[in-house]
Amino acid sequence: MRHTVVLIPGDGIGPEVAEAARFVLKEAGAKIDWLERQAGVAAVEQGSAETLPIETIEAVQEHRVALKGPCTTPIGEGFTSVNVALRKRLNLFGAVRPVRSLQGVPTRFSEPGVDIVIVRENTEGLYAGIENQVTPGVVTSLKVVTEDASRRIARFAMDYAVTRCRKKVTVLHKANIMKLGDGLFLQCCRDEAARYEGRVEYEELIIDAGSMRIVQRPEDFDVLLCENLYGDVMSDLCAGLVGGLGVTPGANFGGDHCAVFEAVHGSAPDIAGQGVANPLALIMSSVMLLRHLASTTGDTACAEVADCIRDAYNAALVAGEKTRDLSGSLGTMEFAEAVVRHVRLGV
Ligand code: NAI
Repeated sequence: MRHTVVLIPGDGIGPEVAEAARFVLKEAGAKIDWLERQAGVAAVEQGSAETLPIETIEAVQEHRVALKGPCTTPIGEGFTSVNVALRKRLNLFGAVRPVRSLQGVPTRFSEPGVDIVIVRENTEGLYAGIENQVTPGVVTSLKVVTEDASRRIARFAMDYAVTRCRKKVTVLHKANIMKLGDGLFLQCCRDEAARYEGRVEYEELIIDAGSMRIVQRPEDFDVLLCENLYGDVMSDLCAGLVGGLGVTPGANFGGDHCAVFEAVHGSAPDIAGQGVANPLALIMSSVMLLRHLASTTGDTACAEVADCIRDAYNAALVAGEKTRDLSGSLGTMEFAEAVVRHVRLGV
């Protein structure tokens, strides 16, 4: 069975890591036909009047699965986030970011190890982008919290935990200060958690104390459920526990049966164009994509290719074949080639 997947390379290191991921998938035998579409700076550079062209949205709506590289968002000025817009347009309300210790990437948290999944609400909170300059020197940024979106993400997290046999969902919040906004989010999480009683443990932590505990005892945590901004920050914090942004994959799921797979990291302008970025986070995101294809289409071959790539990148890391961010010396494509060598050894 062949699958059409939309590829949005993005910008910065995006095209480099996307090429590496595509190479690994092809060499591992994934039966994927790529449909390349652009977003962000890349779209504008290729002549689009929009940072998020309608052809890109329609391609994902039609084929329902995309692999996406990072897209730059200018700081403090310029166009608004293409990533946020894409998630909103495609109703991709839930981000799933697994953060796991890797045998070949030792860190101070390797023993007893980290195995956390962050579930992030993707559509509202402070990312609603409603800002207002009341008067020069005074600005308000509106945090939007709705019952519908809060219940939806809470159910999503609980379902995720139950279907993946995870034991506990921890909600991180600041409802002691934002009594209405975070208060509503928390109440929705409580209500939905009550429906899952006996199937998954439920816990609440104020985000500041929770952050400290996660760094002190990451092994105590399983699924973290966060509103948008907290989920963004916790994703990078947890990435730091297992080796950094080069090893942290992600996926965005939605109500319209679309799924967009992308690494947690951004476009890394400091290393873009040098061929040194770690493509592993996008390769790991591709493995998630293959598992998604397997479960939505019943094509077990996708799951086999996913296992094969996972075993291969683990073997490469254990053999010390790593990029610079993991204290190795390989370039982006050199690492991809190392993974492919292990794919062939494993066949
Ligand atoms: P970043 O994740 O791009 O980079 C942070 C640091 O991590 C940099 O030192 C970078 O070199 C390093 N890094 C990131 N990915 C790496 C990789 N694969 N291999 C080796 N090193 C890696 O975060 P930053 O600098 O805050 O954002 C840069 C741009 O990316 C911004 O415009 C931001 O808006 C955008 N961004 C886009 C995202 C997306 O498209 N989903 C997500 C996060 C940021």
